[in-house]
Parts: sequence; structure tokens; C-alpha cells
Amino acid sequence: MSSRPLVLGIETSCDETAVGIVRGRTLLANVIASSVEEHARFGGVVPEIASRAHLEAMPSVVQEALKVARVSLEDLDAIGVTAGPGLIGALLVGTSAAHGIALALDKPLYGVNHLSSHLAVDALDESRPLTPAIGLLVSGGHSSIIEMSDMARSVKVLGETIDDAAGEAFDKIARILELDFPGGPAIDRLAKEGDPGAIDFPRGLANSDYNFSFSGLKTAVSRYLKEVPTAHRADVAASFQEAVVDVLLEKALRACRDTGIEALIIAGGVAANSRLRAQAAERCQVARVELRTPPVALCTDNGAMVAAMTSLAVSAGIAPSTVGFPTLSTVPLAQPTWK
Ligand code: KG4
Ligand code: ZN
Repeated sequence: MSSRPLVLGIETSCDETAVGIVRGRTLLANVIASSVEEHARFGGVVPEIASRAHLEAMPSVVQEALKVARVSLEDLDAIGVTAGPGLIGALLVGTSAAHGIALALDKPLYGVNHLSSHLAVDALDESRPLTPAIGLLVSGGHSSIIEMSDMARSVKVLGETIDDAAGEAFDKIARILELDFPGGPAIDRLAKEGDPGAIDFPRGLANSDYNFSFSGLKTAVSRYLKEVPTAHRADVAASFQEAVVDVLLEKALRACRDTGIEALIIAGGVAANSRLRAQAAERCQVARVELRTPPVALCTDNGAMVAAMTSLAVSAGIAPSTVGFPTLSTVPLAQPTWK
């Protein structure tokens, strides 16, 4: 197989029906159809609605990605698909579609880990060699610090959240502040009008290891809003966001220091946060750590990240998954692909 395999990646773990196409480390197409508006009135993703929306959107999203990349299904060297973690019904739509394409065209098929894929998207920046890095993975379901040396085979988890994920904390606080769903972007916007130093919210587990805890912060924000009903909501949003950003970067940079690794990749939906990106740039410069943040469109769920993860696996000579590989709602982060 080519050292720059042409790979199509399918992602349906939550509410985005997404297909990406890469050649080696070059991004050719990244097409996304989102059902987020259909969930907004419920204040969270409704699995059944998401699954149905995936089913309806899949054929046109695949077609559009092929059109943008100017390739045909026959040209592909491999198909990759998110096989977990995620909403099981939603995942099954993607894995079934991927099986259909791979079986019909007799192409190798890879079931890949959604979390590893969030970090693998960094490989699409071709200007950089693939060197070891510390990964800060911050999404709706995860907040992890990862030592990444061989993305295709395994990654080492240094720390994880012991309660809420960072994105979950954003979504819950947004609900308390009566902001739109999803909460992360809404808080990001409101916080721009507020003072991040207005309220000194707690930094969970600040002085301990690489693990995170955001439940104390959530309680502190709720209590503050009850005690000070006239609080300036933008100040609350900005101060909450500052506490999250502060603790995420403190620990990620501590991991760089402790391991001697001089690069930090920030990925996952929360990596789209403007304050996190700005503070990371400043603090990495001071710490002399190379900061790698994927473009915002590649931070939230997308198919390009799945294609990137698959391409890394193909290039590393990893065997494809077997037909009927398991689709899993929970998966340890260390396992990038599975049989
Ligand atoms: O990675 P992702 O798209 O889906 C999961 O795999 O979870 O992450 C979604 C999470 C949501 O909690 C959303 O509120 C958060 O990412 N998010 C943000 C921003 N954009 C998305 N959080 C903070 N600031 C943002 N700009
Ligand atoms: Zn995700």
C-alpha cells in the first residue's frame, strides 16, 4: 500500500454526521452535517434523534466529501470509522455504513477510537514532523492528559477527570446561566463581555497529580448565583471559564515539564475555546513549549480526524479490523484501533 494512503473516515459518535478524506497527512475533504438544532429544545443530545439524523444524512455527506476531494470510492486505500466511545445507536449507523462501503468495494476497514482521533488530527499539519507530545484532550466526555509517542499503537494516559469532563462542565454551567445548547460556545461568547478576574472560583485538585475535578467548581458557581442573584452573568461566565482554562493549562504544562516533552497538543471540542487558545499561546511561550492547536473546525467532532487516525494506522502497518468488529460505547483511550 502507498506510504500516503487515501483514506475516508466516518464519524457518528454524537450529533455530527461527518466524513473526512485524507491522503497520507494531507486533508482533502471535511464535510459535516449536524443535528444540533434538533436537540437544542431538549437541552442535550437525544440519542434516537441523533441516530435517525445520521441515517438520513450519511449518503449525501459521503457523496459530498468524495466530490470535494475529487476522488471516487474505488480510489480509496482504506476506510476508517469511529467504533467508540460514543452513543451506541449513533455509532452503529457509522460502523454499518463503513462496513457497507468496505465490503462492497473489498477495501480494508479500521474501527478507530474517537478519542485518539481527536489527537491524531494534529498529524494533518504537514509542516511539522510527528514528534512526541503531551496531549490535552478536552471534550464533552473527556478531560485527559496523555503522553503521545506512537499515536498509531498506543498512548499513555497520565491523568483524567475524576468527575465531570471539561466540556460537560461548560454545558452544565451554561444551563445554569440559561444559555443556549451546546453550552461551550455560548459561554465562550458571553465571557468575552466579562471580567475573568471578577470572581475567584476554585481550581479543583490544583496542587495534586494530573487528574482533574470540575464538580466543585460547578457547585461553587451554582452557589454563587444563588447567593448573588444580581451577579453580572458575563463576569460569572468569564470567571468560570478562567478557572477551567487555568487548571487545564497548569496540569498540561506540568506534564511537559515532568516528562521533558517540549510540545503540547490541545484537541477536542473544548480546544475551540478562545480563552483556552489565547492563554495556551501565552503560557507555552513562557514555558518554551511548542503549542499545537488544530484549527477550530478540526477540534469539534469531524471525519477528518478519523481519516487521520486511520491513515497513521495504515502507514504504521497495523492490520485492519475484522468484519463485525465491536462497536463500543466506552473504550480506554490507550487503544487507538481494534480488531
Ligand atoms: O469533542 P466534541 O465536539 O464532542 C465530544 O466528543 O464530546 O466536544 C463537545 C464539547 C461540548 O461540551 C461543547 O460545549 C464543548 O465541546 N465546546 C466548547 C467550545 N466549543 C465546543 N467548550 C468551550 N468553548 C468552546 N468554544
Ligand atoms: Zn469528540
